[in-house]
Amino acid sequence: MIKKGIILAGGKGTRMSPLTKAVNKQLLPIYDKPLIFYPLSILMLSKIRDILIIVNKGQLNQYKKILPDGNNLGVKITYLEQTKPRGLPDAFVIGEKFIGKENVAMILGDNFFYGQNLSKLLLSSTKLRKGAKVILHKVIKPELYGVAKVNNRNKILKIQEKPKKFFSDLAITGLYFFDNKVTKYAKKLKPSKRGEVEIIDLLKFYKNKNELSADLIGRGGAWLDTGSIDDFYKTSNFVSAIENRQGLKIACLEEIAFNNNWITKKNIRESMKFYGNCDYSKYLSKLL
Ligand code: G1P
Repeated sequence: MIKKGIILAGGKGTRMSPLTKAVNKQLLPIYDKPLIFYPLSILMLSKIRDILIIVNKGQLNQYKKILPDGNNLGVKITYLEQTKPRGLPDAFVIGEKFIGKENVAMILGDNFFYGQNLSKLLLSSTKLRKGAKVILHKVIKPELYGVAKVNNRNKILKIQEKPKKFFSDLAITGLYFFDNKVTKYAKKLKPSKRGEVEIIDLLKFYKNKNELSADLIGRGGAWLDTGSIDDFYKTSNFVSAIENRQGLKIACLEEIAFNNNWITKKNIRESMKFYGNCDYSKYLSKLL
């Protein structure tokens, strides 16, 4: 069972400046919650309670104001700072001590997932013992992402980062499951042309050993972008449409924790005090 998870919430967010000049991108709103709530909810739906959030140097205080230590969510949140963006696999080097002898999941702080079958997919992915697993989703612009070609049994035949020439429309989403060798492999990586170590090169270590597997988010699920300002609004609209139609919130952290039996009604009341008089608190009061 994978019991530890990392959220990589670094990055300069340059594409979204000036919004990101003073505030980290993952703290900006997707509709009614900060973006970071969404990837955190994915780890919590995976029943992962030991969570490391990697943030940019100097931005720790911003995060601690909204997610102090996880106590009220029944999880343990640890923070580490990244001095400069060296690429996604750097998370496993920074997080070496946190990972210890265990397997680990990683989600990128700006990835948004939604869908009925997601929880099932997450829980089966955390059963990983050996190797690595990626989650794929069909997109119309694969050239923007890491891409994988699979056969009809989901065996990975080829992976490539932002391919100029089309070979598959399955993007490798920013949610990964790794065995304990990940830190060892991450340390061996050399920077690519853009000066950073690449997650695709890390995945290739596993693929070459025939230890890389894949699962797909089917067409009933969504994996949305939050890379640009326009994407932020589109994703916000998606959340707003679902929430205001059903009256159910996406990524309400206390609700997930409560359903997992990690927290009590007393914790929910404390959260309501913490957030103050707002719609989110009103929603929490309905859970009581
Ligand atoms: C990164 C990864 C890419 C992956 C994407 C998911 O891309 O390199 O393989 O598909 O995240 O969000 P980047 O956001 O650095 O362009």
